Amino acid sequence: MIKNITLNTKYLKKIKKRRTFAIISHPDSGKTTVTEKFLFLSKVIHQSGTIKAKKSKKYAKSDWMEIEKKRGISVTTSVIQFSYAKHYLNLLDTPGHEDFSEDTYRVLTAVDSCLMIIDASKSVETRTKKLIKVARLKKIPIITFINKLDRNTYEFIKILDDIEKKLKIFCVPMTWPIGSGKNFKGIFNFYDNKIILYFKDYSTENLHIIKVISMVDSISLKKYLNSHEISVLLEDIDLVQSYYHKFNQKNFLKGLETPIFFGSALNNSGLKNVLDGLIKWGPYPKYRISKSRKINSTEKNFTGFVFKIQANMNLKHHDRVAFIRIVSGKYIKGMRIFHVRTKKFKIINNAMNFIAGERFIINKGYPGDIIGVYSNGNIKIGDTFTEGESVEFTEIPKFTPDFFKCIILQDSLKQKTLLRGLKQLAEEGVMHVFRPIVNNSLILGVIGQLQFDVVLERLKTEYKVLASYENTNISCIRWINSDNIKLLEKFKNENYSSLAYDHDNVIVYFSPSTFRLKTIIKKYKYINFLKIK
Ligand code: G4P
Repeated sequence: MIKNITLNTKYLKKIKKRRTFAIISHPDSGKTTVTEKFLFLSKVIHQSGTIKAKKSKKYAKSDWMEIEKKRGISVTTSVIQFSYAKHYLNLLDTPGHEDFSEDTYRVLTAVDSCLMIIDASKSVETRTKKLIKVARLKKIPIITFINKLDRNTYEFIKILDDIEKKLKIFCVPMTWPIGSGKNFKGIFNFYDNKIILYFKDYSTENLHIIKVISMVDSISLKKYLNSHEISVLLEDIDLVQSYYHKFNQKNFLKGLETPIFFGSALNNSGLKNVLDGLIKWGPYPKYRISKSRKINSTEKNFTGFVFKIQANMNLKHHDRVAFIRIVSGKYIKGMRIFHVRTKKFKIINNAMNFIAGERFIINKGYPGDIIGVYSNGNIKIGDTFTEGESVEFTEIPKFTPDFFKCIILQDSLKQKTLLRGLKQLAEEGVMHVFRPIVNNSLILGVIGQLQFDVVLERLKTEYKVLASYENTNISCIRWINSDNIKLLEKFKNENYSSLAYDHDNVIVYFSPSTFRLKTIIKKYKYINFLKIK
């Protein structure tokens, strides 16, 4: 039995102050704007527009994500830590494009809750649907922000119906808008019966909080809202209270219901309620399941797992950063941590965190925090770090890719660099690389077609290697193994032309069609054909 449980209240207090969450939304719903306003509300930045300005400045000086710039999409996940109301918030961005589901899945393993943003003029969109499906699989609590109330919107009740129907989650309005579009006046809070009123600054066209009044203060109400607005608001409150049940934190934490907040990120309205709600009701880091046991965040010994590796964040240094989610214990600068897979200890002096695109060396880290450590190529996604115990977190599976192409090098002298580049990108989880047993070709496997373009672009910009693709006749693959070594060898001998090794040297079976795969699975009952590694 491991005796490292600590009930040190000071330590528990630190953990309870952490909120680690991801923003999920359809592109253009306002994720960047919301992030920026969060940083603004937490006083990390002092001027709106900083993130967007930074974004373009960063692109201009470093083109390691040139493809993002060209296509206007986000293909990587960034991590930002900021403090708000004496709490530490770790915000993990998720890629907006539908082709990056595996990356998104990994990010969702590292968070304790999600913030879903819905554009009120579009309601539930496809990408949100897909992302929420993954979040629901993992039973992650979801907070919802309905954005862009200053535009023409769908009827609010219709949006909530849409969420309940399409995302199969109950809605619990925590706030309610007063008006919309040009007549958007403010927000009513169900939980404290207060109204936050916004007024337009006609010089900037922006809205500002002018007044917070209590619903029972009828004199102020009449001063700021006309009689029609007041009667609509009273009707709405009545309708919501009779139609939706009250917020139940247990159901929220189980992922069964989502508290709904309304606002306009661009105008900085309604977002303070979201942050306050996240702190009041959002889960703090509790535990993660490892292969051998449940690991509580309150345990004294450090444990954490790698959910993301990003290569070439700084092109000049060709560095690679592994992002570790701390599960238990404390990171202290200079500590010796045990890399479970390689069974080696290493001293970590330069773990970083990330604020608004900048990195900072940190002295301490607590459960829920995301720390970045430099990797020399030995760290892989899914790796566990501890203080010596051989636990392994089981959070991050690898999915079989859906599309396959053979990569062709343009300049044969660059073979070594190509192999290095492919190895690094595969370790980052951008794609899978397969080496067939029968020839020297290199097959790439991806989950979304766009990843093929990302690979070529990154090989070109980060490794100066030009490559192209040829089609293959591969339609699906399975990782294979068997308890019976003799029979496994027999299978290999009979099917060697359809076998390859992946970048971790695990053997896979290639099939030209699902029909053929089914026949093979039927024929070789003693072989395990695995869809998830
Ligand atoms: P994303 O990261 O989810 O892709 O969305 P982003 O924040 O970049 O927002 C997409 C567009 O929606 C931006 O406009 C942004 O200004 C706008 N937007 C975000 N929140 C609101 C809101 O509350 N009200 C209104 N009316 N618009 C909002 P853009 O024209 O594409 O870019 P920009 O020129 O404003 O940067």
